[in-house]
Amino acid sequence: MESTSNNNKSRTPFGGQGGCVAVIGAGTMGNGIAHVFAQSGFTVTLIDVNAAQLEKAVATIGKNLDRQVSKATITEEQKKAALENITTVSDITAGVQNAQLVIEAATENTEIKLKIFKVIDEAAPVGCILATNTSSISITKIAAATKRPELVIGMHFMNPVPVMKLVEIINGYATGKEITNTIVELSKQLGKIPCVVNDYPGFIANRILMPMINEAIYSVYEGVAGVEEIDTVMKLGMAHPMGPLQLADFIGLDICLSIMKVLQDGFGNPKYAPCPLLVNMVTAGKLGIKSSEGFYTYTAGNKELVVAKRFI
Ligand SMILES: NC(=O)c1ccc[n+]([C@@H]2O[C@H](COP(=O)([O-])OP(=O)(O)OC[C@H]3O[C@@H](n4cnc5c(N)ncnc54)[C@H](O)[C@@H]3O)[C@@H](O)[C@H]2O)c1
Repeated sequence: MESTSNNNKSRTPFGGQGGCVAVIGAGTMGNGIAHVFAQSGFTVTLIDVNAAQLEKAVATIGKNLDRQVSKATITEEQKKAALENITTVSDITAGVQNAQLVIEAATENTEIKLKIFKVIDEAAPVGCILATNTSSISITKIAAATKRPELVIGMHFMNPVPVMKLVEIINGYATGKEITNTIVELSKQLGKIPCVVNDYPGFIANRILMPMINEAIYSVYEGVAGVEEIDTVMKLGMAHPMGPLQLADFIGLDICLSIMKVLQDGFGNPKYAPCPLLVNMVTAGKLGIKSSEGFYTYTAGNKELVVAKRFI
Protein backbone atom coordinates (compact mmCIF):
# COMPACT_ATOMS: atom_id res chain seq x y z
CA MET A 1 0.00 0.00 0.00
CA GLU A 2 1.52 3.31 -0.98
CA SER A 3 1.80 6.30 1.25
CA THR A 4 -0.67 9.08 0.57
CA SER A 5 0.37 10.86 3.68
CA ASN A 6 1.39 14.42 4.16
CA ASN A 7 0.41 14.98 7.73
CA ASN A 8 0.33 18.72 7.21
CA LYS A 9 -2.62 20.32 8.88
CA SER A 10 -2.16 23.76 7.31
CA ARG A 11 -2.58 22.67 3.68
CA THR A 12 -6.27 22.23 3.29
CA PRO A 13 -8.59 23.45 0.57
CA PHE A 14 -10.72 24.93 3.34
CA GLY A 15 -8.23 27.59 4.25
CA GLY A 16 -7.93 26.97 7.99
CA GLN A 17 -5.93 24.77 10.31
CA GLY A 18 -6.85 21.26 9.27
CA GLY A 19 -10.08 20.28 7.68
CA CYS A 20 -13.15 18.80 9.25
CA VAL A 21 -14.66 15.98 7.22
CA ALA A 22 -17.66 13.79 7.97
CA VAL A 23 -17.93 10.40 6.24
CA ILE A 24 -21.35 8.76 6.23
CA GLY A 25 -21.32 4.96 5.97
CA ALA A 26 -18.52 2.92 7.53
CA GLY A 27 -18.56 0.00 5.09
CA THR A 28 -15.96 -0.98 2.50
CA MET A 29 -15.69 2.50 0.98
CA GLY A 30 -16.42 4.61 4.06
CA ASN A 31 -13.57 3.11 6.07
CA GLY A 32 -11.16 3.59 3.16
CA ILE A 33 -12.23 7.22 2.67
CA ALA A 34 -11.90 7.93 6.41
CA HIS A 35 -8.45 6.29 6.30
CA VAL A 36 -7.03 8.50 3.52
CA PHE A 37 -8.43 11.73 4.99
CA ALA A 38 -7.19 10.91 8.50
CA GLN A 39 -3.77 9.98 7.13
CA SER A 40 -3.60 13.32 5.34
CA GLY A 41 -4.21 15.24 8.57
CA PHE A 42 -7.93 15.86 8.40
CA THR A 43 -10.21 15.50 11.40
CA VAL A 44 -12.69 12.79 10.42
CA THR A 45 -16.06 11.95 11.93
CA LEU A 46 -17.12 8.52 10.71
CA ILE A 47 -20.88 8.00 10.89
CA ASP A 48 -22.92 4.81 10.55
CA VAL A 49 -26.35 3.74 11.76
CA ASN A 50 -24.80 0.41 12.67
CA ALA A 51 -22.56 0.71 15.76
CA ALA A 52 -20.92 -2.68 15.15
CA GLN A 53 -19.95 -1.50 11.66
CA LEU A 54 -18.22 1.54 13.16
CA GLU A 55 -16.11 -0.68 15.44
CA LYS A 56 -15.27 -2.96 12.55
CA ALA A 57 -14.30 0.02 10.38
CA VAL A 58 -11.87 1.44 12.95
CA ALA A 59 -10.34 -2.04 13.38
CA THR A 60 -9.95 -2.36 9.58
CA ILE A 61 -8.34 1.08 9.31
CA GLY A 62 -5.94 0.09 12.14
CA LYS A 63 -4.99 -3.13 10.33
CA ASN A 64 -4.47 -1.35 7.01
CA LEU A 65 -2.30 1.30 8.69
CA ASP A 66 -0.30 -1.50 10.37
CA ARG A 67 0.35 -2.95 6.92
CA GLN A 68 1.63 0.45 5.75
CA VAL A 69 3.93 0.64 8.80
CA SER A 70 5.27 -2.87 8.10
CA LYS A 71 5.99 -1.80 4.50
CA ALA A 72 7.66 1.36 5.85
CA THR A 73 5.41 3.63 3.77
CA ILE A 74 4.35 5.40 6.99
CA THR A 75 5.83 5.58 10.48
CA GLU A 76 4.29 4.32 13.71
CA GLU A 77 3.76 7.99 14.73
CA GLN A 78 1.90 8.73 11.49
CA LYS A 79 -0.29 5.69 12.09
CA LYS A 80 -1.04 6.90 15.62
CA ALA A 81 -1.81 10.42 14.39
CA ALA A 82 -4.14 9.07 11.69
CA LEU A 83 -6.10 6.98 14.20
CA GLU A 84 -6.32 9.92 16.59
CA ASN A 85 -7.89 11.98 13.79
CA ILE A 86 -10.92 9.65 13.63
CA THR A 87 -13.96 9.72 15.87
CA THR A 88 -17.13 7.72 15.33
CA VAL A 89 -20.79 8.51 15.91
CA SER A 90 -24.15 6.94 14.99
CA ASP A 91 -26.18 10.13 14.65
CA ILE A 92 -25.82 12.00 11.34
CA THR A 93 -27.11 15.31 12.70
CA ALA A 94 -24.50 15.34 15.46
CA GLY A 95 -21.77 14.02 13.17
CA VAL A 96 -21.95 16.74 10.51
CA GLN A 97 -22.30 19.76 12.87
CA ASN A 98 -18.74 21.06 12.27
CA ALA A 99 -18.05 19.56 8.86
CA GLN A 100 -16.58 21.57 5.99
CA LEU A 101 -17.11 18.59 3.73
CA VAL A 102 -19.47 15.62 4.08
CA ILE A 103 -18.82 12.54 1.97
CA GLU A 104 -21.70 10.11 1.83
CA ALA A 105 -20.68 6.48 1.28
CA ALA A 106 -23.80 4.70 2.55
CA THR A 107 -25.57 1.79 0.89
CA GLU A 108 -26.20 2.23 -2.87
CA ASN A 109 -29.94 2.86 -2.65
CA THR A 110 -31.60 5.99 -4.01
CA GLU A 111 -34.16 6.32 -1.22
CA ILE A 112 -31.52 5.94 1.51
CA LYS A 113 -29.27 8.53 -0.15
CA LEU A 114 -32.06 11.07 -0.72
CA LYS A 115 -33.08 10.79 2.95
CA ILE A 116 -29.48 11.20 4.10
CA PHE A 117 -28.98 14.29 1.92
CA LYS A 118 -32.15 15.92 3.31
CA VAL A 119 -30.83 15.38 6.84
CA ILE A 120 -27.29 16.62 6.15
CA ASP A 121 -28.60 19.64 4.24
CA GLU A 122 -30.52 20.64 7.39
CA ALA A 123 -27.72 19.84 9.83
CA ALA A 124 -24.42 20.74 8.10
CA PRO A 125 -23.05 24.29 8.37
CA VAL A 126 -23.79 26.84 5.64
CA GLY A 127 -21.17 26.50 2.89
CA CYS A 128 -20.36 22.88 3.74
CA ILE A 129 -19.79 20.85 0.55
CA LEU A 130 -21.89 17.70 0.26
CA ALA A 131 -20.23 14.93 -1.76
CA THR A 132 -21.43 11.45 -2.59
CA ASN A 133 -19.38 8.38 -3.41
CA THR A 134 -22.26 6.81 -5.36
CA SER A 135 -21.25 4.48 -8.21
CA SER A 136 -24.28 5.20 -10.32
CA ILE A 137 -27.05 7.32 -8.80
CA SER A 138 -27.59 10.73 -10.44
CA ILE A 139 -25.73 13.53 -8.65
CA THR A 140 -28.33 15.96 -10.02
CA LYS A 141 -31.13 13.94 -8.40
CA ILE A 142 -29.29 13.78 -5.06
CA ALA A 143 -28.57 17.54 -5.26
CA ALA A 144 -32.26 18.24 -5.90
CA ALA A 145 -33.07 16.78 -2.46
CA THR A 146 -31.12 19.67 -0.89
CA LYS A 147 -31.41 23.46 -0.79
CA ARG A 148 -27.77 23.79 -1.86
CA PRO A 149 -27.48 21.94 -5.19
CA GLU A 150 -24.52 24.11 -6.21
CA LEU A 151 -22.56 22.60 -3.29
CA VAL A 152 -23.34 18.97 -4.17
CA ILE A 153 -20.81 16.92 -6.14
CA GLY A 154 -19.80 13.33 -6.86
CA MET A 155 -16.51 12.18 -5.35
CA HIS A 156 -16.19 8.62 -6.62
CA PHE A 157 -13.29 6.82 -4.95
CA MET A 158 -12.21 3.39 -6.17
CA ASN A 159 -11.90 0.25 -4.07
CA PRO A 160 -9.56 -0.24 -2.15
CA VAL A 161 -9.47 3.49 -1.43
CA PRO A 162 -6.01 3.72 0.20
CA VAL A 163 -4.46 1.99 -2.84
CA MET A 164 -6.38 3.22 -5.89
CA LYS A 165 -5.20 6.57 -7.29
CA LEU A 166 -8.29 7.68 -9.20
CA VAL A 167 -11.04 9.93 -7.90
CA GLU A 168 -13.77 10.39 -10.50
CA ILE A 169 -15.26 13.80 -9.75
CA ILE A 170 -18.79 14.22 -11.06
CA ASN A 171 -20.38 17.59 -11.69
CA GLY A 172 -24.12 17.60 -11.13
CA TYR A 173 -26.24 19.92 -13.30
CA ALA A 174 -25.94 22.72 -10.73
CA THR A 175 -22.49 22.08 -9.23
CA GLY A 176 -20.55 25.35 -8.90
CA LYS A 177 -17.20 25.65 -10.73
CA GLU A 178 -15.38 26.72 -7.58
CA ILE A 179 -16.71 23.65 -5.77
CA THR A 180 -15.30 21.40 -8.50
CA ASN A 181 -11.95 23.19 -8.23
CA THR A 182 -11.93 22.75 -4.45
CA ILE A 183 -12.62 19.02 -4.74
CA VAL A 184 -9.95 18.64 -7.46
CA GLU A 185 -7.36 20.30 -5.20
CA LEU A 186 -8.52 18.30 -2.20
CA SER A 187 -8.16 15.02 -4.10
CA LYS A 188 -4.59 15.95 -5.05
CA GLN A 189 -3.90 16.75 -1.42
CA LEU A 190 -4.95 13.19 -0.56
CA GLY A 191 -2.34 11.91 -3.04
CA LYS A 192 -5.02 11.00 -5.58
CA ILE A 193 -5.44 11.80 -9.26
CA PRO A 194 -8.77 13.52 -9.96
CA CYS A 195 -10.69 13.27 -13.24
CA VAL A 196 -13.70 15.55 -13.74
CA VAL A 197 -16.71 14.21 -15.66
CA ASN A 198 -20.36 15.17 -16.09
CA ASP A 199 -23.45 13.60 -14.59
CA TYR A 200 -24.90 11.05 -17.02
CA PRO A 201 -25.75 7.42 -16.20
CA GLY A 202 -22.70 5.44 -15.04
CA PHE A 203 -20.52 8.59 -15.30
CA ILE A 204 -17.38 7.40 -17.13
CA ALA A 205 -15.94 4.57 -15.02
CA ASN A 206 -19.05 2.41 -14.91
CA ARG A 207 -20.45 3.43 -18.28
CA ILE A 208 -17.41 1.84 -19.89
CA LEU A 209 -16.56 -0.89 -17.37
CA MET A 210 -20.01 -2.40 -16.80
CA PRO A 211 -20.94 -3.07 -20.46
CA MET A 212 -17.54 -4.80 -20.80
CA ILE A 213 -18.28 -7.00 -17.78
CA ASN A 214 -21.81 -7.65 -19.09
CA GLU A 215 -20.36 -8.66 -22.47
CA ALA A 216 -17.92 -11.03 -20.74
CA ILE A 217 -20.91 -12.61 -18.93
CA TYR A 218 -22.78 -12.88 -22.27
CA SER A 219 -19.72 -14.70 -23.64
CA VAL A 220 -20.01 -17.30 -20.84
CA TYR A 221 -23.81 -17.48 -21.30
CA GLU A 222 -23.52 -18.10 -25.04
CA GLY A 223 -20.72 -20.64 -24.58
CA VAL A 224 -18.19 -18.62 -26.55
CA ALA A 225 -15.47 -19.48 -24.03
CA GLY A 226 -14.92 -20.60 -20.43
CA VAL A 227 -14.50 -18.30 -17.42
CA GLU A 228 -10.74 -18.77 -17.22
CA GLU A 229 -10.27 -18.30 -20.98
CA ILE A 230 -12.24 -15.05 -21.05
CA ASP A 231 -10.30 -13.60 -18.13
CA THR A 232 -6.99 -14.79 -19.59
CA VAL A 233 -7.69 -13.18 -22.98
CA MET A 234 -8.42 -9.85 -21.32
CA LYS A 235 -5.47 -10.06 -18.89
CA LEU A 236 -2.82 -11.12 -21.38
CA GLY A 237 -4.29 -9.56 -24.53
CA MET A 238 -5.39 -6.22 -23.16
CA ALA A 239 -2.99 -5.92 -20.21
CA HIS A 240 -5.86 -5.72 -17.73
CA PRO A 241 -4.56 -6.57 -14.24
CA MET A 242 -7.70 -8.62 -13.56
CA GLY A 243 -10.10 -10.33 -15.96
CA PRO A 244 -13.66 -8.90 -16.22
CA LEU A 245 -15.29 -11.93 -14.55
CA GLN A 246 -12.89 -11.88 -11.61
CA LEU A 247 -13.44 -8.12 -11.36
CA ALA A 248 -17.23 -8.66 -11.39
CA ASP A 249 -16.84 -11.08 -8.44
CA PHE A 250 -14.70 -8.50 -6.65
CA ILE A 251 -17.20 -5.66 -7.18
CA GLY A 252 -20.23 -7.86 -6.39
CA LEU A 253 -22.58 -9.25 -9.04
CA ASP A 254 -25.55 -7.52 -7.38
CA ILE A 255 -23.78 -4.18 -7.77
CA CYS A 256 -22.96 -4.96 -11.43
CA LEU A 257 -26.61 -5.82 -12.06
CA SER A 258 -27.91 -2.67 -10.42
CA ILE A 259 -25.49 -0.48 -12.41
CA MET A 260 -26.55 -2.16 -15.68
CA LYS A 261 -30.16 -1.35 -14.77
CA VAL A 262 -29.21 2.29 -14.17
CA LEU A 263 -27.60 2.42 -17.65
CA GLN A 264 -30.59 0.65 -19.23
CA ASP A 265 -33.13 2.96 -17.56
CA GLY A 266 -31.05 6.10 -18.00
CA PHE A 267 -30.33 5.71 -21.71
CA GLY A 268 -33.37 3.62 -22.71
CA ASN A 269 -31.07 1.68 -25.02
CA PRO A 270 -31.42 -2.15 -25.17
CA LYS A 271 -27.64 -2.51 -25.56
CA TYR A 272 -27.44 -2.04 -21.78
CA ALA A 273 -29.81 -4.93 -20.95
CA PRO A 274 -28.20 -7.07 -18.24
CA CYS A 275 -27.26 -10.59 -19.34
CA PRO A 276 -29.86 -13.18 -18.15
CA LEU A 277 -27.01 -15.19 -16.57
CA LEU A 278 -26.08 -12.18 -14.41
CA VAL A 279 -29.73 -11.83 -13.35
CA ASN A 280 -29.91 -15.57 -12.53
CA MET A 281 -26.71 -15.56 -10.51
CA VAL A 282 -27.86 -12.61 -8.39
CA THR A 283 -31.28 -14.25 -7.86
CA ALA A 284 -29.49 -17.43 -6.74
CA GLY A 285 -27.39 -15.45 -4.25
CA LYS A 286 -24.12 -16.01 -6.13
CA LEU A 287 -22.74 -12.53 -5.67
CA GLY A 288 -18.99 -13.09 -6.00
CA ILE A 289 -16.42 -12.82 -3.20
CA LYS A 290 -18.92 -11.56 -0.61
CA SER A 291 -21.03 -14.74 -0.94
CA SER A 292 -17.96 -17.02 -1.49
CA GLU A 293 -19.10 -17.86 -5.01
CA GLY A 294 -19.61 -16.10 -8.33
CA PHE A 295 -17.65 -17.02 -11.43
CA TYR A 296 -14.98 -18.31 -9.04
CA THR A 297 -15.18 -20.00 -5.64
CA TYR A 298 -13.53 -18.31 -2.67
CA THR A 299 -12.26 -20.03 0.46
CA ALA A 300 -10.65 -18.19 3.36
CA GLY A 301 -6.87 -18.32 3.23
CA ASN A 302 -6.72 -19.59 -0.37
CA LYS A 303 -5.51 -16.97 -2.83
CA GLU A 304 -5.59 -19.31 -5.84
CA LEU A 305 -8.31 -18.57 -8.41
CA VAL A 306 -10.71 -21.53 -8.59
CA VAL A 307 -13.44 -21.49 -11.24
CA ALA A 308 -16.88 -22.21 -9.70
CA LYS A 309 -18.09 -25.81 -10.31
CA ARG A 310 -21.08 -24.49 -12.29
CA PHE A 311 -18.69 -23.19 -14.97
CA ILE A 312 -16.33 -26.13 -15.32
N1 LIG B 1 -17.67 -1.32 -2.98
C1 LIG B 1 -17.15 -0.76 -4.06
O1 LIG B 1 -16.31 -1.35 -4.76
C2 LIG B 1 -17.53 0.65 -4.42
C3 LIG B 1 -16.69 1.37 -5.29
C4 LIG B 1 -17.01 2.71 -5.58
C5 LIG B 1 -18.15 3.28 -5.04
N2 LIG B 1 -18.96 2.54 -4.20
C6 LIG B 1 -20.14 3.21 -3.62
O2 LIG B 1 -19.84 3.54 -2.28
C7 LIG B 1 -21.03 3.50 -1.48
C8 LIG B 1 -20.83 2.55 -0.33
O3 LIG B 1 -20.53 1.27 -0.82
P1 LIG B 1 -19.87 0.14 0.11
O4 LIG B 1 -19.41 -0.92 -0.80
O5 LIG B 1 -18.93 0.77 1.08
O6 LIG B 1 -21.17 -0.35 0.91
P2 LIG B 1 -21.23 -1.19 2.26
O7 LIG B 1 -22.49 -1.98 2.19
O8 LIG B 1 -19.95 -1.89 2.53
O9 LIG B 1 -21.40 -0.04 3.38
C9 LIG B 1 -22.51 0.80 3.45
C10 LIG B 1 -22.65 1.29 4.89
O10 LIG B 1 -23.66 2.29 4.92
C11 LIG B 1 -24.30 2.19 6.16
N3 LIG B 1 -25.59 2.88 6.09
C12 LIG B 1 -26.73 2.50 5.46
N4 LIG B 1 -27.69 3.43 5.63
C13 LIG B 1 -27.16 4.42 6.39
C14 LIG B 1 -27.65 5.64 6.92
N5 LIG B 1 -28.90 6.04 6.72
N6 LIG B 1 -26.83 6.40 7.67
C15 LIG B 1 -25.54 6.00 7.91
N7 LIG B 1 -25.02 4.84 7.44
C16 LIG B 1 -25.82 4.07 6.69
C17 LIG B 1 -24.44 0.69 6.38
O11 LIG B 1 -24.66 0.37 7.76
C18 LIG B 1 -23.07 0.19 5.87
O12 LIG B 1 -22.11 0.11 6.92
C19 LIG B 1 -22.15 3.08 -2.45
O13 LIG B 1 -22.80 4.24 -2.91
C20 LIG B 1 -21.40 2.37 -3.57
O14 LIG B 1 -22.08 2.42 -4.79
C21 LIG B 1 -18.67 1.25 -3.89
